[in-house]
Amino acid sequence: MGSIPATSRGLDAAPRARTGSTKPWWRDAIGYCLYLRSFADGNGDGIGDLWGVIDRLDHLEALGIDMVWITPFYPSPMDDFGYDVADYCEVDPIFGDLQLVDRLIEAAHRRGISVIIDLVANHTSFDHPWFRSARMDVSNEHRDYYLWADPGPGGSPPNNWVSYFGGPAWTLDSASGQYYLHLFLPQQPDLNWRNPMVRSEFDRIIRFWLERGVDGFRIDVAQGLVKAEGLPSNPQRASVATLTSRQDVWAAFDHRYDILQPESIDIFAGWKRICDEYGAVLIGEVSVADPEAFASTIGTNGLDVAMWLEPLHVPWDADELRAVLRGPIDRIVDPHAIGWLGSSLDEPRAVTRFGGGQLGRQRALALATMLVFLPGIPFLYQGEELGLEQSSVPADLRADPVGDVVESSRDGCRTPMPWSAGPGFGFTEHDSTWLPFGDHVEADTVSAQRGSSGSWFERYRHLISAWHELDGLNGSPVDWLSFDEGDLIGFRRGVVAVVLNTGTQRLELPLTGEVLYQTWGDGSGKRQRNAHSEEENVILPGQNAMVIRLDKVGPFSPTAAPA
Ligand code: NOJ
Ligand code: CA
Repeated sequence: MGSIPATSRGLDAAPRARTGSTKPWWRDAIGYCLYLRSFADGNGDGIGDLWGVIDRLDHLEALGIDMVWITPFYPSPMDDFGYDVADYCEVDPIFGDLQLVDRLIEAAHRRGISVIIDLVANHTSFDHPWFRSARMDVSNEHRDYYLWADPGPGGSPPNNWVSYFGGPAWTLDSASGQYYLHLFLPQQPDLNWRNPMVRSEFDRIIRFWLERGVDGFRIDVAQGLVKAEGLPSNPQRASVATLTSRQDVWAAFDHRYDILQPESIDIFAGWKRICDEYGAVLIGEVSVADPEAFASTIGTNGLDVAMWLEPLHVPWDADELRAVLRGPIDRIVDPHAIGWLGSSLDEPRAVTRFGGGQLGRQRALALATMLVFLPGIPFLYQGEELGLEQSSVPADLRADPVGDVVESSRDGCRTPMPWSAGPGFGFTEHDSTWLPFGDHVEADTVSAQRGSSGSWFERYRHLISAWHELDGLNGSPVDWLSFDEGDLIGFRRGVVAVVLNTGTQRLELPLTGEVLYQTWGDGSGKRQRNAHSEEENVILPGQNAMVIRLDKVGPFSPTAAPA
């Protein structure tokens, strides 16, 4: 692919967001997380690949997506399905080759879709040549690319750090007698970001992909990277003796020394300088629950966008939902820098978390409505637009390396996309797939839903198109409505109010205006007055959300509406 002049590339990438505006092209974009192994299989081996993505890009265009984040396609032993990279500047033959990445970028750009790729910077695969040579010879220049430490007393690990995936964050390398650090699997050794050589390697890698035309990066584990000098033990908050879940063990420590070190900001700033030459965006996965800590990664010298992951864990509870929506909005100077995720490749799908079935789907769409209309970039997760539930994956077919504990298995949200009815669900021609499909029925498929009034796909499509028509609301700030309490969560941005009723009762709201979008019915935003007379207040059914172009906001509180 010929290289596009640096100054114009960012703009070329996102024609939708560009028209007559000076804002960065990614502002107000709608993102989509494409889980490559499960999107579409183009070469018939039962595993999703780049051929499949190119063939199916019209799905993303029809949905109204502006930016697609593609999960890792690099050569990898697949111990963590690509989040263990063995070569940052190549493509694993399972997924295609470099020329296909070029074709994909071109094809996506032609459809007005920007392409963001995953940059796995906290760790490599243990199969990466850097780690192989580091392990082979302690005097090798690559030894210091990783974090090594002598055993503690009695041969124990050097400190009390734990892995996100369970167990100690240290593995003994018997050849050298030292331990190496891994915040994830032992097959994913952490890089030493205090080593300037590591920094220059990644500067080179980033330029490699920017030269090929990618529009930005999703930095995996952006809260990780630099570790505290001297690798001190973290303060421990609670005993882990009786804890069984890996998340609870992680939460039992105050992660003062293993994540969120201020020096990581300096790394983002360096990457940002390079990205700026190409008009590219720097988006980080920032997995922390504290909104202040989260906010510290964003800013003039930090990430352009930080992904806020707390909505991935929230139960259907008004106060908890309110807290995860308000948390970052109320603490960040520019809330357009928030990336919102309601479902992802790592957590049970929102539909299932919120009770499953039609109710779960309704609730997931209602939350998505809030995320789309809040400032920042919402990322739909592949299949969310079909209202997919978590699939059940029988024990003997599980693939996730951390799936040994049933609740924490990520397989159920990673099963292949159902495109059309019949064997292979239009995903593959092969007689088996890397993960089973789960319990999908014809109504779950893209073919059944696209163009079918009232389908989940059409409701998500209408949601996105209602947002695009408002063109980002001119960057209006969020004013939480005075009646944002009890079952109701609501905010005003510019000319619209967005309201979510988490309860079961229909509520009459002190608002009048034109309905631009509603999560129930056909979701089309019928462009009618909500009520019979122009003066009547808006009625919002339980478990639903809506967007209203306001006439005015009244001073009174919402009341239960007659059934
Ligand atoms: C976050 C990714 O989303 C997850 O799938 C992966 O296992 C970890 N980072 C480690 O790279
Ligand atoms: Ca394939």
